[in-house]
Amino acid sequence: MSTPDVISIGYLVAAVLFILGLKALGRPRTAPRGNLLGATGMLLAILVTLLDQSIISYGVLVAGLALGGLIGAVLALRVQMTAMPELVALFNGFGGGASVLVASASFIEAVDLGRADNQLAVAAALTALIGAVTFTGSLVAFAKLQESLKWSGFGGIQIFNAAGMTAGVVLVVLVTAQPGEWAWLWALVAVGLVVGATATLPIGGADMPVIIALLNSFSGLAASATGFVLENSLLIIAGSLVGASGLILTRIMCVAMNRSILDVVFSAAPVAVVGDGDEIYEGKIASTSAEEVAMLLETASRVAIVPGYGMAVAQAQHAVRDLMQTLQDSGVEVVFGIHPVAGRMPGHMNVLLAEAEIAYELLLDMGQVNPTFAQTDVTIVIGANDVVNPAARTDPDSPIAGMPILDVDESRTVVVIKRSLSPGFAGIANPLFAADNTLMLFGDGRQATLDIVAALVNA
Ligand code: TAP
Repeated sequence: MSTPDVISIGYLVAAVLFILGLKALGRPRTAPRGNLLGATGMLLAILVTLLDQSIISYGVLVAGLALGGLIGAVLALRVQMTAMPELVALFNGFGGGASVLVASASFIEAVDLGRADNQLAVAAALTALIGAVTFTGSLVAFAKLQESLKWSGFGGIQIFNAAGMTAGVVLVVLVTAQPGEWAWLWALVAVGLVVGATATLPIGGADMPVIIALLNSFSGLAASATGFVLENSLLIIAGSLVGASGLILTRIMCVAMNRSILDVVFSAAPVAVVGDGDEIYEGKIASTSAEEVAMLLETASRVAIVPGYGMAVAQAQHAVRDLMQTLQDSGVEVVFGIHPVAGRMPGHMNVLLAEAEIAYELLLDMGQVNPTFAQTDVTIVIGANDVVNPAARTDPDSPIAGMPILDVDESRTVVVIKRSLSPGFAGIANPLFAADNTLMLFGDGRQATLDIVAALVNA
């Protein structure tokens, strides 16, 4: 069998492994197998690419591996688990940036050698635009997730963005029509970089998860378009898979947020007025202790636990498992209410609870758990804030207005575990904390949960 045949068959097998891996990732039980299949596909893809000397020289490959490996190792050692969402945003951005560089270099070489046809020009132009948007968009998303970038609004930014997007489309046509005019290509990259940043800047509050899923999809589409430039079928397939799964996730996030993608991209979310919430909280906060919560739980027959970003910060998932176990041992029914955007990345809570070996069947999504809160004796909210904020239902001016929330306030008693009355990601006060049936247990999520377990055991 000739080397090109081996390469083609290898790419085909790798593509099949990617598709089977993605399918298996769709269910928690088969997800580990899905991971393994995908990783095997990637290993095969790398080995086969090494055979393809026409694509890259071994020297460049080893240098790239050493540099990338070094940066990856430093990041892996230094980045906290809670900063994973930011890191994923950064990786999306690097993917987009790499696509721009690789596709532009190949395109320039092809034009110089007189090999550039229309298909190549269109693919290179689309890569330049989508990759550049992904790069700066992801950098802005990174800063917003780190909460180091706050947007205070600037009228007309949506018109500026619409003009930028139109300019991008016009430049794609110009690059295709006049491939040798490098000014068009660089102008296209520049417009993509500006639009990526300015389109992501005004997106905030409840819309952030949607834009993160969209940028993830864009990084795949940019890679796929690069595959057309390099005439590499595996890159086309793998990029399309990332692009398509990112688009599906974007749709899921839009449904979860009750927003359309056009709403998210073209109507800036209302800027949160970050107040101290005094007018809502004054004189209405009832704080409690671990012992009091334990007494409440002793008489409960059904308990719901609602985790949020604070559970990830506190790394409280194992303590939460201990609490669940202690309650179950005394005959209490325990379920978990999982909001689709709780935490800072899709599936954040599911991953943490799975790590603590909490049975997947106990994790109820919003549609399943909401009708049951009225029959729930105690709901323990641990480190969640925006996803249980009733202002989404009651205040049409709220930045999270219309976002479906977990209706924990319908439970007989709500216990909220968090360190203070500080707001969550959307930066707004939460009337739940001042509700008549809410008790606040102030403290670190892990320690407070362990204290409740200890009080239950010692009772
Ligand atoms: P948030 O609304 O962000 O609230 C988290 C709460 O955790 C904070 O109010 C904080 O209060 C508390 N907390 C922090 N550290 C804690 C600790 N050690 N122990 C106990 N509590 C602690 O979280 P959420 O309810 O999960 O909502 C998620 C938000 O992030 C939504 O607005 C969503 O749109 C946004 N977002 C989500 C995603 C995805 S894809 N999931 C991506 C980007 C943005 P204290 O400081 O008082 O403790």
